Amino acid sequence: HDEVLLFSKKPSLKLVLVGDNPASLSYVKAKKNACKKVGIESEIVKLNPSETSTESLLSLIEKFNEDDAVNGILVQLPLPKHIDTDKVIEFISPIKDVDGFHALNVGKMFLGERFEELKPCTPAGIIEMLDFYDIDVVGKNVVVVGRSNIVGKPVAVMLINRGATVTVCNSKTRDLASFTRNADILIVAVGKKYFISKDMVKDGAVVVDVGINRGADGKLYGDVDFPEVSKKASFITPVPGGCGPMTVASLMLNTVKAFKLQNNIF
Ligand code: GUN
Repeated sequence: HDEVLLFSKKPSLKLVLVGDNPASLSYVKAKKNACKKVGIESEIVKLNPSETSTESLLSLIEKFNEDDAVNGILVQLPLPKHIDTDKVIEFISPIKDVDGFHALNVGKMFLGERFEELKPCTPAGIIEMLDFYDIDVVGKNVVVVGRSNIVGKPVAVMLINRGATVTVCNSKTRDLASFTRNADILIVAVGKKYFISKDMVKDGAVVVDVGINRGADGKLYGDVDFPEVSKKASFITPVPGGCGPMTVASLMLNTVKAFKLQNNIF
């Protein structure tokens, strides 16, 4: 009988947005739409930055941490400068941390594939894409350009865990092209339109473009010069439509996983 009751519940996700950065707003809306599509209850909690302090955000998170009807808590980043982002992330209950940003979840990911639980969404989406297209990473030269906690660092660790040879560069790396030209798999997350040109990519490389940059024409562009690099690459992700939707899909998976963890479903 308990099981019947349990499965009549739906996973639920709180999407917290402070301010109205247009990019962040469009991301949380995409996340909410995906929830609706797959049957996850969700709510966007939109807060006014002038009325939101680190402390008031922590009290809201505390309320969600203690509420059994909330399974996932996502605070959209970046937060306004006056809010202590690190403090906010560490305050989210690790079992509700559907972004996989809490130190406990980062630590588990660091220890190896079998310890991974709630994985950061964009890196998990990238791994899923590589798996789907049967792109083996064992022994491959993977170059990651970008060293953020959201994408660069975690995707590097997850690929190390899977047997790849990983080099982590950033936008300031000296002679960056000498690294990227050696990449069998090139992952770019720097946030600069067309940062990677054709001459920086090896023939037949797999290119994963995480960048989403708004051009002066109002259109979205990746970090990779797609029209040129796509002539050389064996696989390449488009922007929009590549890593973005995979990130959202990973979030749906994490929310269901969090729901199962909290309801002792294995
Ligand atoms: N900002 C950019 N990417 C992300 C993400 O994956 N999660 C959150 N919360 N904020 C982000």
